[in-house]
Amino acid sequence: MRMKILLFLVATILATCHGSSDHGVSFNVFPLRMKTGSGGHYIPDVSCASWTLGVEAHNIINWKTIPEECEGYVGNYMIGQQYRSDSKTVCKQAYFYARSLNLPRDGKNIWVFDIDETSLSNLPYYAEHGFGLELYNDTAFNLWVDRAAAPVLPESLKLYNKLLSLGIKIAFLTGRPLSQKDNTAKNLKLAGFYTWEKLILKEPSTYSGKTAVTYKSAERKKLEEEGYRIIGNIGDQWSDILGTTTGNRTFKLPDPMYYIS
Ligand SMILES: *[C@@H]1O[C@H](CO)[C@@H](O)[C@H](O)[C@H]1NC(C)=O
Ligand SMILES: *[C@@H]1O[C@H](CO)[C@@H](O)[C@H](O)[C@H]1NC(C)=O
Repeated sequence: MRMKILLFLVATILATCHGSSDHGVSFNVFPLRMKTGSGGHYIPDVSCASWTLGVEAHNIINWKTIPEECEGYVGNYMIGQQYRSDSKTVCKQAYFYARSLNLPRDGKNIWVFDIDETSLSNLPYYAEHGFGLELYNDTAFNLWVDRAAAPVLPESLKLYNKLLSLGIKIAFLTGRPLSQKDNTAKNLKLAGFYTWEKLILKEPSTYSGKTAVTYKSAERKKLEEEGYRIIGNIGDQWSDILGTTTGNRTFKLPDPMYYIS
């Protein structure tokens, strides 16, 4: 019954829009999906989709947790097909770009990969912590990282392998602390990332109190000073791809679960 009323409403609006276009009014776009149901009740999915779009586009920044009403939405997105599909789109474009380059074969071309939610997935952890609804808990997250049990992000692994076959080297650049280097290397190998030119973790004393943007910019600058050309850079956080010496092109993977500045 509700559906019928909704369809009738949409049809009416369509008819109205069509009618008004006769008078040159073309800005009257009908809503594809209404914010409230026919009974006037709120459909939370609509605003959660807007919220995640705002997050991905970096219009919504510095947030600590996802909105309470979006736990189901974000969880379904992460566990369902859409996350995989969105990631695939990003990685494909990255590959098309890399393939189009005519690079000198001097071993100095490097691609920067972030680790968490870029190479490895912490979804098993976040699924137990409300998909970002719970405030970040350093202790609990580090226990998870130390298990070196994070699964691979398959689309990223495909990109990684294709870049290697193009003769491009890989630099992993992560905000994980240096103390997690062994477990991180172990986890990367278990996930299928068998080789890399650099595995850069955060030296806590050097970067204490600094943002990820500052830390990652400084480490990328070091790469360039060593003679590498950063031709691409991929991450799930805007802080992976903002700042300086970002690389010739940057690629943003989806991550509606947390924000790192
Ligand atoms: C953070 O995680 C640790 C380890 O699981 C737990 O003992 C602690 O209570 C948690 N802290 C908060 C504020 O939830
Ligand atoms: C990358 O950017 C630098 C600096 O703008 C430019 O000189 C170089 O040709 C670019 N390389 C590629 C592969 O686009």
